[in-house]
Amino acid sequence: MRKITVFDTTLRDGEQSAGVNLNLQEKLEIARQLERLGVDIIEAGFPAASPGDLASTKEIAQTIKGASVTGLARASKKDIDAAWEALKVAAEPRLHVFLATSPIHRQHKLKMSKDEVVAKAVETVRYAKTFFPQVQFSAEDAGRTELEFLREVITAVIDAGATVVNIPDTVGYLMPEEYGAIFKYLKDEVPNIDKALLSAHCHDDLGFAVANSLAAIQNGATQVEGTINGIGERAGNAALEEILVNLNIRQDFYQAEARAKLDQLSRTSRLVASLTGMQVPPNKAVVGANAFAHESGIHQDGVLKERTTYEIISPQLVGLDSNQLVLGKHSGRHALKERMEFLGYSLSEEQLQDLFIKFKELADKKKELHDDDLVALVHDSTLTE
Ligand code: KIV
Ligand code: ZN
Repeated sequence: MRKITVFDTTLRDGEQSAGVNLNLQEKLEIARQLERLGVDIIEAGFPAASPGDLASTKEIAQTIKGASVTGLARASKKDIDAAWEALKVAAEPRLHVFLATSPIHRQHKLKMSKDEVVAKAVETVRYAKTFFPQVQFSAEDAGRTELEFLREVITAVIDAGATVVNIPDTVGYLMPEEYGAIFKYLKDEVPNIDKALLSAHCHDDLGFAVANSLAAIQNGATQVEGTINGIGERAGNAALEEILVNLNIRQDFYQAEARAKLDQLSRTSRLVASLTGMQVPPNKAVVGANAFAHESGIHQDGVLKERTTYEIISPQLVGLDSNQLVLGKHSGRHALKERMEFLGYSLSEEQLQDLFIKFKELADKKKELHDDDLVALVHDSTLTE
């Protein structure tokens, strides 16, 4: 089984979501929960971005001992110095430095030639290595970079001492087959690739962030990056909870495993949602309120007979007590009977039939029926006559 290193960037890329601004205490609370979840690396912030970011990265680096803490820097000495100031207190100081490699970024943003980009990347990694034992280099917009050139940059930064090389699909442009093919190419063509971890970092602009991350793992990525609830710049980053559950549920397919404790996922998701104010849609995979809710009678009947008929993930796996049979107009007698027994009512067949008719009448008018609706109905039925 291949080991996958999990790199969480909820506090850095995730915090770049429009409208999100976490204070120091909130960041610390999320970092502690990420430590409980068992991610390997926490990207705590971007120390050169603001004094507040430097302070919170430093505080997290001082507090968290069960995960490695990193911070982001541009390819500049000033940024690397700020990151060192924040991270030197960490148990295992680690820097994440990035430089764009794609033609669009080279031409319009950096105004640099290919040779200048390679030279800058090498100089930056060498400088970072004078402070940090672990240096991750990200080729920003790798997804739209010429493969040959990407190979050249990655080979050069590994020679300069990078211990992790990250291949971001910065703008969420690629399809899973294309993103996976980049990893296969780099595995095959970069001569020193075994000296570094190869990392996937995906954005969700076309809705493929999780699929692309998994395609990268299939094709040789040994580190995967993402955020809780998939929060992040624009349409967000790859949702870590979905990647982790995929690796667990389809271990037969991926033949890879991560060290995270999945039963902390629901709790982590709720904490991030409440502190960022970014609510999780009810139908979101793994952590949505409806992810374990069964409404239709056929499904409820199946689940009551054998859970796996309609449930591939057990709610307990992600830290929930049980699944939820939501009683609505599609629900059947079996689910109603179970719910009434749970509420302490042992009904005869005749009483159940009478209640079921009233239940369907009310369900036509109301989307979901709650326990107090059922209790009111039962007292209105033959049971009390
Ligand atoms: O998406 C991206 O390219 C990034 C880099 C800074 C790694 O977040
Ligand atoms: Zn990103």
